[in-house]
Amino acid sequence: MSLAHPPVDTADMAAPRDAGTGPDGLPDDPVLVDVRDATMTLGGRTIWSHVTAQIGAGEFVAILGPNGVGKSSLLKAILGLVPLASGEIRLLDRPPGQANHEIGYLPQRRSFDPSLRIRGRDVVRLGVDGDRWGFPLPGRRSRAAAARVDDLIGLVGAGAYADRPIGQLSGGEQQRLLIAQALARKPRLLMLDEPLDSLDLPNQAAVAALIGGICRQEGVAVTIVAHDVNPILAYLDRVIYLGQGGAASGTPAEVITSATLTALYGTPIEVLAASDGRLVVVGQPEAPAHHTDRHGNGRP
Ligand SMILES: Nc1ncnc2c1ncn2[C@@H]1O[C@H](COP(=O)(O)OP(=O)(O)OP(=O)(O)O)[C@@H](O)[C@H]1O
Ligand SMILES: [Mg+2]
Repeated sequence: MSLAHPPVDTADMAAPRDAGTGPDGLPDDPVLVDVRDATMTLGGRTIWSHVTAQIGAGEFVAILGPNGVGKSSLLKAILGLVPLASGEIRLLDRPPGQANHEIGYLPQRRSFDPSLRIRGRDVVRLGVDGDRWGFPLPGRRSRAAAARVDDLIGLVGAGAYADRPIGQLSGGEQQRLLIAQALARKPRLLMLDEPLDSLDLPNQAAVAALIGGICRQEGVAVTIVAHDVNPILAYLDRVIYLGQGGAASGTPAEVITSATLTALYGTPIEVLAASDGRLVVVGQPEAPAHHTDRHGNGRP
């Protein structure tokens, strides 16, 4: 495996799943997102360059890398919210921004004021009603929307607290309801920016399992930004790792290696596998365990 500076060629990488055809004769794994030799500059500074990666239908993909490396910016570029300096991104074979109705997006660092009285159920309903929010639907469509909200609340296991004010719920409870909201329009791709951030370890595992289950059982592709790969390792098909020296894309076994991370960081990194399968990254300039002051010190 090579690094994307010069560009990574992912064509020779092992596909995480069999690339066959379904009963309808269509490919099982059409490409949802195709990032080709993409470079982003913000405020005159190159954030990342020569990133090449693909996200296939139904795949579970992690975007990993240290603070400030441009993970959120990559999601925004896929959504067409931030333009590329060079290269190309295609979403369902269209330019970014033209197929966003196929994406459920959860931005980074969402928090609710504790005094906010809106119920969890209403937050999910906002995703179903979308731009019609505030305008009453006719009776039949309103009942269908309410039934959809019930289904979504059931899917994320939030039935016990969905009628309580969202501001009073725990971080993990809020996260489940926000995932339900992002799923409201049956997206083909769910893009979640650090959904495990600020959750305790049991909740990280539970929300990761929920997201993994949605990917496998509902057939929704998931792209998740994370700092610690361990909670999501069991569900991962593919990893896009952004580093200061470039980017790498491939299966976790291809990308999360001492050699690849050493090249990405430009400093010696060792990846160790613990007996329980957890990966321990040693020598990383900003280890997840020390990841408390998220923006205080600028770039690592
Ligand atoms: N509008 C902007 N103008 C200039 N620089 C920006 C702008 N938005 C983001 N940046 C910078 O681009 C870099 C990448 O930001 P981004 O939020 O994508 O990083 P990240 O990898 O998601 O970081 P974190 O792990 O902290 O969430 C940062 O150095 C940030 O300060
Ligand atoms: Mg971010």
